[in-house]
Formats: sequence, C-alpha cells, structure tokens
Amino acid sequence: MLKMKMKLKNVFVMYFFVSILGLMYALMQLGQPCDCTQHMKQNSDFVRNQDRAISKLQNEVKKLQAQVKPEEPPKPILPIIYVITPTFTRLVQKAELVRLSQTLMHVPSLHWIVVEDAATKTSLVAELLKQSGLQYTHLNVETPKDFKLKEGDPNWLKPRGVEQRNLALQWLRDNRELSDEGVVYFADDDNTYSLQLFQEMRFTKRVSVWPVGLVGGMRFERPLVENGKVTGFYTAWKPNRPFPMDMAGFAISLQLLLANPTAHFHLEAERGYLESSLLETLVSIEELEPKADQCRKVLVWHTRTEKPKMKQEEALQKQGLGSDITIEV
Ligand code: UGA
Ligand code: MN
Repeated sequence: MLKMKMKLKNVFVMYFFVSILGLMYALMQLGQPCDCTQHMKQNSDFVRNQDRAISKLQNEVKKLQAQVKPEEPPKPILPIIYVITPTFTRLVQKAELVRLSQTLMHVPSLHWIVVEDAATKTSLVAELLKQSGLQYTHLNVETPKDFKLKEGDPNWLKPRGVEQRNLALQWLRDNRELSDEGVVYFADDDNTYSLQLFQEMRFTKRVSVWPVGLVGGMRFERPLVENGKVTGFYTAWKPNRPFPMDMAGFAISLQLLLANPTAHFHLEAERGYLESSLLETLVSIEELEPKADQCRKVLVWHTRTEKPKMKQEEALQKQGLGSDITIEV
C-alpha cells in the first residue's frame, strides 16, 4: 500500500515537472522573433490580388454607369455675333480698345472684326487683339484722302469709318456662307455697351433695333413701338431720314447681308444718312424687330471721349525732354 502511494507520488512529481518544463518552453517562445517573411509574402500577394480584382470590378461598374447615364443635353449653338469696329490712331485709341475688348470678352460666341483706318496695320492693335484671347479678324484700309477729316475739321464734316465697315462686310461675304448663322453689329470704338445688349441682338432675324443713349442732342433716341411693331422714331435731328437711327442702334442678320451682296455704306452719304444708306436696301420699317423691352431700355450709350490736352508734353518736347516714346499709351 505504501509502495503504491510512493509510485503515485512519483508519477505526480514527474507530471508536475514535465508540465513546468512545457510551460517554461512555451513562455520562452513567446518573445522570440520568428521567421515570418514567407507567411507575410503570402499575405501581401493575397491582398494585391484582391485589390486588382476590386479595381477591375470598379472599372466595370464605371463602364456600365457610363452606358446607363442619360446623355447630357447638347449645348445650344449660339449664332455668332460679328462685331465690326472701325478704329484709327490717336492718343486715346488704346484706352478705347482696351475698354471695348474687355466688354467683348464677356460675350460668348463672338467674332471681333477690327478694321484700322490706316495704310498698314499697327502693332498696337495687333498686340491688343492677340492678348485679348478673343476670336478676331484684323483688317485695314485707309479712308481716301478726299473723304478724310483733316486736323481741326469738326468731326461731323465727313462720315467716319465707312470704308472700314464696308471692308468688314466684304470679308464676311468672302469668308462666310448663307447657311452660317450669325448677326452683324457695328460697334464704334468709343461707345459704351451693356452686356445685355448682346443677348438682345443674338437671335436677330433680319434687322433688330433698340434705343441709343446720349445721342442726337437728347438723353436718348429710340424707335417707337406699337403692338410689337416699329411705327416711327423718337428723334429730333433730321427726323425725315429713312432710318433716323445711330449706328449703335441696330444689328443685321448675317444671312440678310449675304443675301444682298451689294448692300454697303455710301461714302458720299449726306451727314446723318450713313445708316440709312445701308438699311434702305435691306429692310422696311415694318420689318424691324424691336428689342430691349419694346425699345424702352437704353443698353448702349453714344459716349465720346474728350481729346486729351498735351500742353505740358509739348512744352517738354520743345526742351528735348518729351516723354519716353517707347512707352505705349
Ligand atoms: C456717329 C456715329 O455714331 C458713327 O457710327 C458714324 O460713323 C458717325 O457718326 C458718322 O456719321 O460718320 P461719331 O461719334 O460722331 O459717330 O464718330 P466717331 O466715333 O468719331 O467715329 C466712328 C467710328 O469710326 C469710330 O469707331 C472711330 O474710331 C472710326 N473712325 C473715326 C475712323 O476709323 N477714322 C476716322 O478718321 C475717324
Ligand atoms: Mn463716336
């Protein structure tokens, strides 16, 4: 009996020691570094393959979405507004053209035709056009000597910008087709234009008209409208002219101009009759399309820039101290 007890005790002691050893070995292994690279490589391969599969699926989804997405409505194509501007060299020219160009930059679908009254194109105008980022055509033609204003002449003595506007009309006839949609507006370089004016003229069918501010010795001149039709004109100066309107007060559809290949401004037109010389051959008064709230809204002003005085400049020039002419003004 005692012998058996001893044996059992031994077994327990043995078991105890073996367990302790096992436990110690396990504890030692815990903090040991192990060679896991193989294991990690397998893991990262697995992750990479999964990523690839996911991005493939995402691409698939995108493709399907593109097929399902309803087509964006096509942007309406606006008729191009061709703005024709005669211009000539003088102290305020750059200021005028900077102001006008920066207005036109805000108008979509616009083509600026600038015609210099000069024997050759100037770099001032060429550079300004290039810098503007506008769609443009740069032309030049000199007003014949007999029709040109001389220094000191009152500016109303002879019509201005006539051959320049006619050259622009010729350019349109040579470079555009009857099927091209557009509207033509004669914008002198010194007037002031509201952006809304361009919206009003955009869809001109034949000839559209509106008031002009600060013109004809009045606050404004305007076509008179009854039941949506032009019936006459509010003007005090030569009211019997066929179209008693300023150049800034109308726009003509490109098609109408192309369909009438001989319509042009008359160089010999009597004072105030320049606008009529073109319009007479194109429309009747009943056909005019009144814009700008039935011609009750002024959106263009016949502003005129004062000639700057150069008294000091001239005095300095006499002393050989004139300003640096390489600085453009
Ligand atoms: C008014 C009208 O608003 C003009 O559209 C019209 O051409 C002119 O009368 C006229 O009856 O001939 P007004 O302010 O008196 O205009 O004329 P300007 O502004 O001096 O000239 C009209 C345009 O012609 C301007 O763009 C100007 O730069 C240009 N111009 C003027 C020339 O190209 N050459 C010149 O010798 C003078
Ligand atoms: Mn003017």
